[in-house]
Amino acid sequence: MEYKEIYEDSIAHPEKFWAEQADAIEWYNKPETILSKDENGYPLWYKDGELNICYLALDKHIQDGCGDQVAFIYDSPVTQTVKKYTFSEVKTEVAKLAGGMQSLGLKKGDTAIIYMPMIPQTAFAMLACARIGVIHSVVFGGFAPHELAIRIDDCKPRAIITASSGIEVDRLIAYKPLVDEAIALASHRPKKVIVFNRKLGARIPFKKYDVDYDALVYGSEETPCVPVNSNHPLYILYTSGTTGKPKGIVRDTGGYAVALKFSMKYIYNVKEDETFWAASDMGWAVGHSYILYGPLLNRNTTIIFEGKPIKTPDASTFWRIISEHKVGTMFTAPTAIRAIKKEDPDGEFIKQYDLSHLKNQFLAGERCDNATLEWYQQHIPIPVIDHWWQTESGWPMIANSLGIEKMPVKSGSATKAVCGYDIRIFNENGDELSANEEGLVVVKLPLPPGNMLGIWENEARFKAGYFTKFDGYYLSGDGGYKDEDGYIFITGRTDDVINVAGHRLSTAEMEEVVASHHSVAECAVIGIHDELKGQIPLALVVTKSGDEIEHYQLEQEIIKLVRQQIGAVASLRNVVIVHRLPKTRSGKILRKLMRSIADGEEFQIPSTIDDESIVEEIVTTLKKYKIGVYNI
Ligand code: COA
Ligand code: AMP
Repeated sequence: MEYKEIYEDSIAHPEKFWAEQADAIEWYNKPETILSKDENGYPLWYKDGELNICYLALDKHIQDGCGDQVAFIYDSPVTQTVKKYTFSEVKTEVAKLAGGMQSLGLKKGDTAIIYMPMIPQTAFAMLACARIGVIHSVVFGGFAPHELAIRIDDCKPRAIITASSGIEVDRLIAYKPLVDEAIALASHRPKKVIVFNRKLGARIPFKKYDVDYDALVYGSEETPCVPVNSNHPLYILYTSGTTGKPKGIVRDTGGYAVALKFSMKYIYNVKEDETFWAASDMGWAVGHSYILYGPLLNRNTTIIFEGKPIKTPDASTFWRIISEHKVGTMFTAPTAIRAIKKEDPDGEFIKQYDLSHLKNQFLAGERCDNATLEWYQQHIPIPVIDHWWQTESGWPMIANSLGIEKMPVKSGSATKAVCGYDIRIFNENGDELSANEEGLVVVKLPLPPGNMLGIWENEARFKAGYFTKFDGYYLSGDGGYKDEDGYIFITGRTDDVINVAGHRLSTAEMEEVVASHHSVAECAVIGIHDELKGQIPLALVVTKSGDEIEHYQLEQEIIKLVRQQIGAVASLRNVVIVHRLPKTRSGKILRKLMRSIADGEEFQIPSTIDDESIVEEIVTTLKKYKIGVYNI
């Protein structure tokens, strides 16, 4: 197969192309309308189709005689556990849990939040929701109760499913008190909290709304899959935007199932039966698409990994898992490889394991730097495939589509547009740029199946955030360029979203928290380059006049505040005090200028700046605290 031919066909004849791909999954009612539009003109896929994604992920494989195949391998170095679950075992547990949820009153169209660590019960909970048409919203465990409360108030769950605890390297994090705190902070009251007790000794304060997970499963009958319409929301996944409030990305069911199935075959080139491992967290888009739904739809064995690339117990963990479970395809973020490289620069651990089953290494979540790519290649000579996608898309938009035609890798490029994505580079005026000119990465509508249906109950933000700037195009928020061969290079966000260790975070949200400190008059949070995490946040604050707070005290208090309000995952470690922030004469804070100063990039002081002397003060301050490029 030739990439060019199949790609061009997908762009020229989207309906025909995606009608054919829809045949790769089983429907209760096959869609007759392939592509239509909603009342706002936004594309809808398979409008009249009916299916159930839990059926496709589990029951179908059992009916096809593959019930004894291992579906999940739970590998948890932090609890020293390896446990395997067959498709039949998973289906029994999921169908009973779904039955139990129904007995608690949960029904099609309700929402449920899942706030859990990386354990099989998280996957069971997601699948149980999907089985009965309950819309799940998984919240990453690294977020604090305040963040959880924001999500509770936004999607108003009828139930929350949680576990007694998570484990972060060597510390136990009791989840239940965090859930109770979030419920107390929120205005909406979920009816039930289903708690899976891991029996690791965490405190589980009892509340009237609690239901024990094990007792619920034990006492329930298996329930069948509930057919849902193709556009029935499968889940809401919150992601960071440019305001203080996260966006609830809504995913459909039918388009998503078709797109994931397509991607497993044509992008990842994975055959059924193989072991596929995405070392991410179920709380991110990668977790939803490539730990859970994608591999299961394709009848792959998938790994639920509870650990980190390093320190659990050391930098050999990835290689042990690949070798022990015969992983054929792996997916992680470049930051994880950088962490391993730092601990084991000569790849000594790699030599101790048989990695012969590993065919391809996929990377995403942030830009893949050349040094990481080279180090990997030097120690493991297999294709390292950078690919680009977003929570909004749910599956890759730019990739080396290995199942179609393997193209040569160009360092720094995620390769070419995936089938269905007509990717262009625009300038601010919406003119298409020529080869090698850097601009805004946009995608011509219609976006292919699998992309977001909307932002949960916020049509205005959906339109304004993505479709207003350029009529007929999706604005990705990333910058980049295309070379003369059509290879696309993503250069980074063009907005205030930052990427910390593969985690997408909003500086606007952090600014709100920093600004709430009683000594802060004004502040800006920017993302600056970090060797390990790609980017880390830096807060620049102006204190209230007459406030004599010590720098160290202010820094510690702000760090604590951000950890309390957003969560440890925000990784804010540096706070500096400046007399003023650089602004234009109209009062706009020049964040890009500060970022360039911290990263040591060439910069031009905008002619609109109200006071040029501030630039010198920022340089002096960053030098004093050894921050960014001055960290030497
Ligand atoms: N629950 C509670 N706390 C969590 C958490 C969770 N699920 N996940 C992270 N945290 C905490 C960490 O314990 C840490 O706390 P600390 O500041 O007290 O040490 C903080 O949040 C930052 O975590 P993290 O960003 O993971 O940094 P780290 O130093 O612990 O690990 C890496 C660094 C690079 C090893 C790690 O971030 C990593 O493996 N990244 C890959 C991410 C990834 O796969 N992303 C998916 C996109 S494809
Ligand atoms: P998320 O929505 O959490 O998946 O984060 C999406 C953002 O991560 C994108 O908008 C990019 O800024 C960044 N990103 C993801 N993959 C890549 C990649 N391969 N190269 C560069 N940036 C990436």
